[in-house]
Amino acid sequence: MADDRPILMFDSGVGGLSVLAPTRVLLPQSSYVYVADNGGFPYGVRSEAEIAARVPALLGRLVERYRPRLVVIACNTASTIALGAVRAALDLPVVGTVPAIKPAAEASKSRAIGVLGTDATVRQPYVDDLSARFAADCTVLRHGSARLVELAEAKLRGEPAEPADYEAALAGLLDQPGGERIDTVVLACTHFPLVADELAAAAPRPLSFVDGGPGIARRVAFLTDGQLWPAIATGEAVFTAPLDIGEPLRAELAARGLDAVSVL
Ligand code: DGL
Repeated sequence: MADDRPILMFDSGVGGLSVLAPTRVLLPQSSYVYVADNGGFPYGVRSEAEIAARVPALLGRLVERYRPRLVVIACNTASTIALGAVRAALDLPVVGTVPAIKPAAEASKSRAIGVLGTDATVRQPYVDDLSARFAADCTVLRHGSARLVELAEAKLRGEPAEPADYEAALAGLLDQPGGERIDTVVLACTHFPLVADELAAAAPRPLSFVDGGPGIARRVAFLTDGQLWPAIATGEAVFTAPLDIGEPLRAELAARGLDAVSVL
C-alpha cells in the first residue's frame, strides 16, 4: 500500500528551499510539490491586505490541484499575516514558519537579539507577541530588508553579489541603538538562510544566526509520523507565473530533489 499525496511547500520565491532541505533530510520518502509564487513576489513590500487576500485563495487552489497530505507555508511574511485564515480555509494540517525568537532568546548570552526579516514581517503584531512571550528579558531589535531577499534570489540564479550589499543589510540591524550588544540574529525570512554564509562573512563580529527550518522539518515529521508514503518519491517545482528559469536555478532545484518544473 502506498500514499502518493505530496507535501506542499509554499513561498513567494526560492526562500522556502531553506525549509525544504531539512525536511527532505528527515522525510526523503515523501514526494514534494514546491510552489514559488513568483507572480506575487516579493511579499515583503506588500500590504497586509494584499497578502491576506492572495495567500489563502492561492493555497486553496493549490490544494485542490495537488491534493497534498500537509501544507507548509515556508514564508514568514505569509505566515505572520495569513496563517490563521489559511488554517480556517483548508481541511488539512498547515505548518507555518514564524520568526524563531524563542530559540534565539534561549541561546543569547548578551540578552540582545536581532530579528532580520522582510519589512512586512518585522512590523507584525505576531512578532510583538513572540517577543513578549519568549524574549521578555531581552532587547529585541528588528530590521526589514527587501534587498536581502533579492540577493538570495540572485544567488540561486547564479548571479554574483558584492559583500558590501550584505554588510549594508546587517548594518540596518546592528547600527541601531543597542545593536552593538546583539549576539544572536533570527533569520526571520526563509530566503535568508540561503545567504547565511555571506551574512556571516560580512558580519563585523561573530554572530549566531538562528534558522527556523530544522524546527519546521521536525514538526512536519511529527505530524506525518506513521503515514504511508509513495512507492517512488517525486519532486516538482511549480511557479505561479511564466519565467525564464535559467540553468543555474534549474540545477539548484534539482539539487533539492525538484526535478520537474512547471507553471501553474
Ligand atoms: N521568503 C519570504 C519570507 O519568509 C518572503 C520574501 C519576499 O517575498 O519578500 O518572509
